Amino acid sequence: MEEFVSHSKRNGQSVGLVPTMGALHDGHLSLVERAVGENDITVVSLFVNPTQFNNPTDLATYPRDEESDLRLLSGAGATVAFAPGVEDIYPGGVENRARKEFDLGTVAEVMEGKFRPGHFQGVAEVVSRLLRLVRPDRAYFGEKDFQQIAVIRRMTETEGIDVDIIACPIRRADDGLALSSRNALLTPEQRAIAPEIHRALAGSVDYARSHSVRATHDTVVEQIEGVPGLRVEYFEIVDGRTLLPVEEWEESPWIVGCITVYCGDIRLIDNIAYKK
Ligand code: PAF
Repeated sequence: MEEFVSHSKRNGQSVGLVPTMGALHDGHLSLVERAVGENDITVVSLFVNPTQFNNPTDLATYPRDEESDLRLLSGAGATVAFAPGVEDIYPGGVENRARKEFDLGTVAEVMEGKFRPGHFQGVAEVVSRLLRLVRPDRAYFGEKDFQQIAVIRRMTETEGIDVDIIACPIRRADDGLALSSRNALLTPEQRAIAPEIHRALAGSVDYARSHSVRATHDTVVEQIEGVPGLRVEYFEIVDGRTLLPVEEWEESPWIVGCITVYCGDIRLIDNIAYKK
């Protein structure tokens, strides 16, 4: 991978990186298509990163289908599928790797940071390793993981990694469910109720125009929890830059509602912009 990139760079070719954990869906492919349109070379990494899973069952059950991933990537025009082993990314193995604590600031402490301790340290670790290895001009991430993008931007700043982080819009199924590799784990019954998450969020944008932040928050939680089988872990209405909660709509020009919902055992995340 390093040799290939050095060669491409010597030839003056620009490089885009789409980091993924595989089990690709149309959301990933939209990142790949954007990268292909904006770079001479598009590298897509497929690596289920063990250090970002705070729950061993989640890691064990994470969907994997490399054959289908490779097929989809050649159809989407990616130049390279980079599917390293754990030892390639963490020489000596995960247990013996040189650990470091990334300075990720408050954007990593709220929401996912509270409910998934260590998760963003693991994300920062793998993304920094991939960025140093592939040395892309641009790296592409989906806005479904809204907080992850803020954390990665912060990591690249504090680590001095020179790369444009490109945030790409959420891709949704026809019924509104945000595309996610974890959707493959839903039973047909769970898949049928999961779109209520987006329905509640989308409906609340209009509601928010004539109601307070608190009332908007409560109506979303009530609507989702009104569906048997769905349980809200958190719903926070935050400043889109700092990710700190807002109390009034006038507080910030950019306000986003970020939600995590358990659909049975499957943890789904989504978000909606109230102001941008
Ligand atoms: O969003 C993901 O799929 C992962 O967190 C990422 C960015 C590929 C790092 O493992």
